[in-house]
Amino acid sequence: MASRSGFSSRIGFIAAAAGSAVGLGNIWRFPYETGSNGGGAFLFIYLICTLIIGFPLIVGEIAVGRRAQANPYGSYNLLGGKRWALVGLFGVLCGIMILSFYNVVAGWAFGHFMSTAFGDLLNKPSFDGHFGEYASTIGSNLLVSLAFMGLTAFIVMRGVQKGIEAASKLLMPFLFVILLGLIVYGLTLDGAMKGVEYYLVPDFSKINLGTVFSAMGQAFFSLSLGMGALITYGSYFSKKDNIVTSAAIVTVVDVSVAFLAGLLILPLVFSQGLEPGAGPGLVFEALPGVFQSMGPMVGRVIGGLFFLLLCVAALTSTVSLLEVPVAYLVDERKWKRGPVVIGLAALIFLVGLPTMYSFGGGDFFTNFLQYYNAGANGPELVDKSFYDIIDDIFSNIGLPLGGFLLSIFIATKWKTSNLSDEITSGFENYKGSIAEKFINLMITVICPLVLFLIVLSTILLKFFGVALI
Ligand code: TRP
Repeated sequence: MASRSGFSSRIGFIAAAAGSAVGLGNIWRFPYETGSNGGGAFLFIYLICTLIIGFPLIVGEIAVGRRAQANPYGSYNLLGGKRWALVGLFGVLCGIMILSFYNVVAGWAFGHFMSTAFGDLLNKPSFDGHFGEYASTIGSNLLVSLAFMGLTAFIVMRGVQKGIEAASKLLMPFLFVILLGLIVYGLTLDGAMKGVEYYLVPDFSKINLGTVFSAMGQAFFSLSLGMGALITYGSYFSKKDNIVTSAAIVTVVDVSVAFLAGLLILPLVFSQGLEPGAGPGLVFEALPGVFQSMGPMVGRVIGGLFFLLLCVAALTSTVSLLEVPVAYLVDERKWKRGPVVIGLAALIFLVGLPTMYSFGGGDFFTNFLQYYNAGANGPELVDKSFYDIIDDIFSNIGLPLGGFLLSIFIATKWKTSNLSDEITSGFENYKGSIAEKFINLMITVICPLVLFLIVLSTILLKFFGVALI
């Protein structure tokens, strides 16, 4: 295998992997999933999913990638043979589909940056129904999402080192700071404490299969886990560095940003009398009014800065999503990087168009299909948009399925002895440690079992209306 350009240092890898993990998943998706799934109980389950399922599998993905030194398809092929390589291919497909809608949402973030910083968004008399209006205006959506995809393609074209690393290292810390500042401001607003209570005091009666399903999907999505993005990054990871501590840092950073985003958004939602279960528009409904309340100049600066950083966070994620199919085509098919990047970016942009029409822009895609949700009294048939379907199939089912297959792969094919060998490089005392026992137990027993049950029962419930548990 040709030598691969590595990250310049461990901090480079951590910055890039954290840059991939931290994104719209934390700041846009997590708060609305929490609001749609009962608040504190969802937060609680999400944390458990991240710790016992997400973290060990991150270690597993990175180890597989570092051992094989290849993209997901190539890695499974090398370590497991042709049939396992299909799992890698499925990951590549998930990446393409996730990026297709992710880019639309990134476009919203970009559009809000432009109209907050330079336009007249904050002059609106009211933000009631703001998101519905915004998301259904297709013309401007086309423009911003095209711009975003172009930016992503540009960075991916420049290659691993310069592009991804520089961007994430430089700007991530600012996101943290501005989140903290906004939380403090938000908590002083009237009614904010009701949001804090909703968010931090779990009401366990609200937990059902749907909660667990959404929390698991959210954990995978937020950690960039389950489709081989971390296999790809692991292939660039140095043999001298410690996979377990790096994975732990990435997990902690990712969870912290999601937690803070929830602590920002849900109090704002309650203080403005918005509906926590509003869905994908929640963040864009909740924020503009708050920036407006800061006064015209301050609102413009703080709001503009916030949306700008959100765009940067999204960009380091779109870059990692695009990198997976690019690495596959460049490594396996020996195609040239430049044309591959442009071709894929164009294709994924087109695949994202129906998603753009899923939020009121067109009735066909907004009310695309009906299938079941886990309701309080068993399965309920509900309207689903095109976006809902792609998100359910590829994020909520596809990623946990990918994680399930990864754990089966390690347990039965690659073997935990090889996993331990790979981790030991960079972590001398790994063998025999508690970390090893925990990771092996999770990967060989808990992950396969839990993920199998969740994926299977969810498919039965959603698409067949059959409640297993
Ligand atoms: N984790 C990113 C976020 O939270 C999104 C993302 C980037 C992703 N790469 C991924 C999700 C790979 C799943 C798989 O915004």
